[in-house]
Amino acid sequence: MSAARTAVVTGGASGIGRAIAQRLTADGFNVSVFDLNPADEGHSLVVDVTDRAQVDKAMDAVREHYGPVSVLVNAAGRDGFIRFADLSFADWQRVVDINLNGVFHCVQSALPDMRAGRWGRIVNISSSSTHSGQPFMAHYVAAKSAVNGLTKSLALELGPQGVTVNAIPPGFIDTPMLRTAEQAKRLGGTVEDHIARTPVRRVGLPEDIAATCSFLVSEEAGYITGQIIGVNGGRNT
Ligand SMILES: NC(=O)c1ccc[n+]([C@@H]2O[C@H](COP(=O)([O-])OP(=O)(O)OC[C@H]3O[C@@H](n4cnc5c(N)ncnc54)[C@H](O)[C@@H]3O)[C@@H](O)[C@H]2O)c1
Repeated sequence: MSAARTAVVTGGASGIGRAIAQRLTADGFNVSVFDLNPADEGHSLVVDVTDRAQVDKAMDAVREHYGPVSVLVNAAGRDGFIRFADLSFADWQRVVDINLNGVFHCVQSALPDMRAGRWGRIVNISSSSTHSGQPFMAHYVAAKSAVNGLTKSLALELGPQGVTVNAIPPGFIDTPMLRTAEQAKRLGGTVEDHIARTPVRRVGLPEDIAATCSFLVSEEAGYITGQIIGVNGGRNT
């Protein structure tokens, strides 16, 4: 067991979660990654966040390896793109299960440590699509909007126990998820086309989200809770 604080990052084998895991490691946290795929660095646990038994088992493994968990970043997610009229309930459930229910399982599983230590930081990665809605992504946007609502409610409930809860809704971040959407012609143009319409004139990088997350889990962010902190190059204001 180490004196450093311990952070669990879900979805940390790829894209945004991976950059967050790397950044929190550089910041001095002990970092454990929960992902369907093994992560290439850090303490990697293969976990499906939709499976409560797997989440609880992995959380116990982190406690055994590092000690109590005081930071949780929920970045595991999967998008979906289908006309609502053609959306099956099974597709709806799967997307809600990963993007929303996975957050429920991970927060409930990690929370006893934060309450016992009277200090905790939870950051939920939602989506900038929650600002405006997105055609063909009703299930994804509904799940991510629920994550924003969960964030606000938990912030009120957990603030007195020393736990802050915030969400980062990323917009247009260059990850495998975005490039897959581009290749499938789901973006309504190329990434370059979107850059031309983005106020800061570039695509977002996973490191942009990681930098914001690094601040939100720091000691000095203790007066920030229940906030939805957009990181989107000005695409949503
Ligand atoms: N890239 C963007 O522009 C963008 C925009 C808005 C929101 N987001 C959100 O940011 C988060 C990270 O996305 P990304 O772009 O890095 O995508 P990504 O596909 O590169 O990474 C997502 C990771 O989540 C993992 N994952 C998926 N389902 C899981 C499950 N059931 N259990 C455990 N791990 C699981 C995947 O294995 C993968 O490693 C997601 O929640 C996504 O919805 C991304």
